[in-house]
Amino acid sequence: MHTLQTTSLRIRDNALFILDQQALPQEKRWLDASTVEALVGHIHALRVRGAPLIGLSASLLLALLAEQGHSRDALLHALETLRASRPTAVNLMNNLDRMKLALREEGFVAALVTEALRLVEEDKALCDGIARAGSALVKPGSRLLTHCNTGGLATAGVGTALGVIQQAHRQGKVANVWVDETRPLLQGGRLTAWELGELGVPYQLITDSMAASLMAKGLVDAVWVGADRIAANGDVANKIGTYSLAVLAKFHGIPFYVAAPRTTLDPHCPNGEAIPIEQRAAAEVTGAAGSFGAVRWTPPDAQVYNPAFDVTPATLISGWVLDSGIVTPEEVEKGVFAIAR
Ligand code: MRU
Repeated sequence: MHTLQTTSLRIRDNALFILDQQALPQEKRWLDASTVEALVGHIHALRVRGAPLIGLSASLLLALLAEQGHSRDALLHALETLRASRPTAVNLMNNLDRMKLALREEGFVAALVTEALRLVEEDKALCDGIARAGSALVKPGSRLLTHCNTGGLATAGVGTALGVIQQAHRQGKVANVWVDETRPLLQGGRLTAWELGELGVPYQLITDSMAASLMAKGLVDAVWVGADRIAANGDVANKIGTYSLAVLAKFHGIPFYVAAPRTTLDPHCPNGEAIPIEQRAAAEVTGAAGSFGAVRWTPPDAQVYNPAFDVTPATLISGWVLDSGIVTPEEVEKGVFAIAR
């Protein structure tokens, strides 16, 4: 396959590399992800993360394995293993469904390569569409609050919610971005802070528990988040902590927007209750690991509950900003997400 480069994916010499999102921003380290075992390990460890990026990395790996001469059966097995690597972000399943169709074709090697590259190009265009539609909602002088990381690191393009913020900043409309640090793995404190810094967007990092008092003081004009899965009734699964922001925004009368590509829609999932929520290791909460070194601050026998995502009910969402435009609560009530796009 020819060379490919996005913010956090790279193909060189028929090998797939991922930018280690656990090492950022301290270190910019590219890791080989050219086997199913390696990529699944990186996905589990969130070295490659973000709903769109997981799906793209899995699709590119399948294309590479096909080019290396793996049989159709072996590729199907690889596809199912990759599909099971993380349960919540439906982009992975949606992308792999398309790869599975390509695998059925007679010339499946070329079909898989074409499809994987098409998915990458499409994702860039989807991000641009979201940024275009979403930035129109941002008012001049806005102080925006965001959670987790939804930027170029998490997609092949400019990102979803962060793409909107970037575009609105280019249009001169962003006064400040409040960046939730996003416990426990600090995607906000490490990744969003890094991306906004690189882009020259003014931001201030806050701990997740500060949002309420900022809103009460009138310092937040809108909340922008991404999504890992949007159910047919408009309920949204996203990084843990998103739901509390939506409740707070509703209480304070602040618009709460979800930005996502069509690959995040799951018309077969009736509502948020049906979205599988990934449970993660206790060690993420009992201390810190990664490039900080391992530190534990809890008693050794501390019991932990650590869901990676929560569900925000559709009733708390002011608008779903897709690549195709803004979807209103009225349209969602009428069932637009129940129809596959
Ligand atoms: O566990 P993560 O870091 O993969 O979670 C990521 C999120 O929740 C993002 O908000 C979501 O995937 C959208 S990324 C464009």
